[in-house]
Amino acid sequence: MDFKSEIKRRRTFAIISHPDAGKTTLTEKLLLFGNAIQTAGAVKSNKIRKTSQSDFMEIEKQRGISVSTSVMAFEYDGKQVNILDTPGHKDFAEDTYRTLTAVDSVILVVDTAKGVEEQTRKLMQVCRMRNTPVMIFVNKMDREGIYHFDLLEELEKELQIAVCPYTWPVGSGRTFKGVYNLYNNKVSIQNGENVSIAEPAIEFEGVTDPALTNLVKEDTLDTFKEEVEFVNEMFEPFSHSLYSEGYLAPVFFGSALNNNGVLELLETFLEIAPSPRSIETAERVIEPEEEKLTGFIFKIHANLDPNHRDRIAFMRICSGKFERNKFYFHTRSEKKMRFSSPTSFMANNKNIVDEAYPGDVIGLYDSGNFKIGDTLTEGETLHFRGIPSFSPEILREVNNLDNFKTKQLDKGVRQLTDEGVAQLFIQQPGNRKIIGTVGELQYEVIKYRLEHEYGALCNFSPLSFHKALWITTTDKKQLEEFMFRKSSAVAFDKEKIPVFFAESEWMLKIARESYPALTFHETSDFKVD
Ligand code: G4P
Repeated sequence: MDFKSEIKRRRTFAIISHPDAGKTTLTEKLLLFGNAIQTAGAVKSNKIRKTSQSDFMEIEKQRGISVSTSVMAFEYDGKQVNILDTPGHKDFAEDTYRTLTAVDSVILVVDTAKGVEEQTRKLMQVCRMRNTPVMIFVNKMDREGIYHFDLLEELEKELQIAVCPYTWPVGSGRTFKGVYNLYNNKVSIQNGENVSIAEPAIEFEGVTDPALTNLVKEDTLDTFKEEVEFVNEMFEPFSHSLYSEGYLAPVFFGSALNNNGVLELLETFLEIAPSPRSIETAERVIEPEEEKLTGFIFKIHANLDPNHRDRIAFMRICSGKFERNKFYFHTRSEKKMRFSSPTSFMANNKNIVDEAYPGDVIGLYDSGNFKIGDTLTEGETLHFRGIPSFSPEILREVNNLDNFKTKQLDKGVRQLTDEGVAQLFIQQPGNRKIIGTVGELQYEVIKYRLEHEYGALCNFSPLSFHKALWITTTDKKQLEEFMFRKSSAVAFDKEKIPVFFAESEWMLKIARESYPALTFHETSDFKVD
């Protein structure tokens, strides 16, 4: 197959949801349809359940699972499907945001009974920032939920995106039988409960097919037909260009648990979801068809085995063909690197790959050279615009509990923060290390990993700062004065950019007024601009 066809047949996407909406179940069902796994239950939820917040082994186990399910690739109908997994727990939301930089589209799962939830809103905000095409899957239709028309209105209002139904449910809750594809005029009905994937749904031609009455009760059918009429009157038809630009989300209904409505989602997804798209960098726009390789690291994962400190850096290929053992240019270090055992993640197995194409994600073994956001090219210097880091809202000082292990602690803290687990700030005098995160759970993960992977012992003292803000200015004198006066509330990040720890919104307002030449940034995106 030629290079362009390889690109065109790729679909790289993420499934995102508020925890418990059914992301894991849907992922698993897509893998089952794609023959990537043979039995249900093979993909474990990588969410860290509420009950196990302080269960370190659980965290470790979860981390292990999330390595193997970081990317799940399979072939379906001639298409190469790459599903990028995202952590469900909100304390790891930054990981999810970063993963969203590496996808071309997303499927957003919503629970029909819960509607739009907190995480759904935030994830959608990130998609809007990047104009990522979004499809919505309304899950758990086998349960009583919000009335479909009300739910569509809620989705539109809360997610700030236009929606249009692509499929429509036949019944709901206990009467849910299947879905109608408004665009190919096929009604798929499941005969019975807990129907296996091997048993295809029964298809009918259009809503008026008389045979439908054999499987669907008359009153359910009547309501369904009325609703479809209403849908056709109320909604503008699906527009591929509006979807591709991130303005319109087609909505699918179904039950991931019962395999109902999932195939309609998958087949439509393969048909309409974008193949690898052009990607913006600080320097220029990269087109996937370009001959030369470009790619960026969006995730780094430590090896679970404490005897092997290697890490896996996940690279999204943006253009060109990646080849094993070829030298590539690591733009941050300006060094040439080659990779003898890059891995792909076909069918949930790690395999060494000889070549990979735009849209693919490959795992590169790394002994500590990579940072999140690093770029590989064939010589050009490029900076991909990622999702910016958000200003951390929880700040804690690291206390070393074993003076013989100071070096290990330093190294561990640096490497873990390179992985994007948290952000590190250094405060003078005394090289005090302050770690900033968006969630409590990260501190448990860091403490555990420092001890088990680096042999370093530490604890954290809470600091009563409200948030950390990056400072930029052209007025050196004013910055010096600020740093002097506020010495207990300033530090430097790893790139030596000054950071202000604001005690409150009020103190931040005062700082902004008193030092007008300083700019206080809430996100790190100023770094690439
Ligand atoms: P998540 O990854 O988004 O967090 O959700 P997950 O797939 O783990 O699903 C959360 C719960 O919802 C699971 O039940 C799952 O079985 C259930 N579920 C998923 N899809 C459907 C559906 O279409 N209909 C119904 N009725 N339930 C669905 P659980 O009891 O929390 O876990 P488990 O013991 O079943 O694994």
